[in-house]
Amino acid sequence: MKKVAIIGAGNVGATTAYFLAKERIADVVLLDVVEGMPQSKAEDFLHAGPLQRYNVEITGSTNYEAMRDADVVVHTAGIPRKPGMDRLDLMKTNAGIAKTAGQAIGEFAPNAVVVAVANPLDIIALAILRETGFALRNIVGMAGILDSTRFSYFIAQELGVKPEDVSSMVLGGHGDSMVPLARYTSVGGFPLTELLDTETIERLVQRTRTGGGEIVNYLKKGSAFYAPGASVAQMVAAVILDRKRLVAASAYLRGEYGHRGIFFGVPVILGKNGVERIIELELTDEEKSALDLSAEQVRHAANNLDELLA
Ligand code: LAC
Repeated sequence: MKKVAIIGAGNVGATTAYFLAKERIADVVLLDVVEGMPQSKAEDFLHAGPLQRYNVEITGSTNYEAMRDADVVVHTAGIPRKPGMDRLDLMKTNAGIAKTAGQAIGEFAPNAVVVAVANPLDIIALAILRETGFALRNIVGMAGILDSTRFSYFIAQELGVKPEDVSSMVLGGHGDSMVPLARYTSVGGFPLTELLDTETIERLVQRTRTGGGEIVNYLKKGSAFYAPGASVAQMVAAVILDRKRLVAASAYLRGEYGHRGIFFGVPVILGKNGVERIIELELTDEEKSALDLSAEQVRHAANNLDELLA
């Protein structure tokens, strides 16, 4: 069995573990700094084993050494958003946590593919890249799948069709300037733009941008975890099983889409080596400027990273 280590056994980490165990993708190690918390969640999961027949090992630990030789490391540790905060506002605290985690990943799981999840994930991915010194393609951020599944869900609701018939693509940074691409979204193979008018599409695009915030406003003290957990699990499964999934994810750009030196949401092929390819789509001028604006925000935050990690 392959091994997945999840740093941060909070709601996103634990939900990811649940989906991975249920699909029997890999053994899971839950890690957290709160003594007893990862152990309790692992034990509790195992108690459901006879009912769920996971057939995988789940352990909990407060010691980074437990992630030794993991094939995939998922980084979810950090404070969640509160109402009124953008994802970028979390940067100071979460970049510090990522620094320590990154060093531990480099030491104990030097061959892992890392999935960055804690926000602001495009920046946290960069912090992990610096601390681990891993190859660029071995680090990938989870956002595009989540934003796309939300967009697909809202479209399905609007049209009254099954969500699985909708295939959508959301690019850009995982912030309020993300770029849902209606032109590259289809329902049962038909272009979305043929099925809904511009105004309706714009309303759903806007709801997708604030979809995470909607949950934060309900919860007050936390952010979403079921859809994020399912999204991370899809990415982990793509790597562990070498599925070559074409999905949107945050990858390190070296000139693709006209940007370099940042992690940014683009279409990628995910397989055992992490990001195996970045797909470059033709964009209209309007789409390109929306993407540039989003990249600008990510770059601005990335420029502050050195100061934060010092
Ligand atoms: C969200 C947070 C997890 O979009 O970024 O729900």
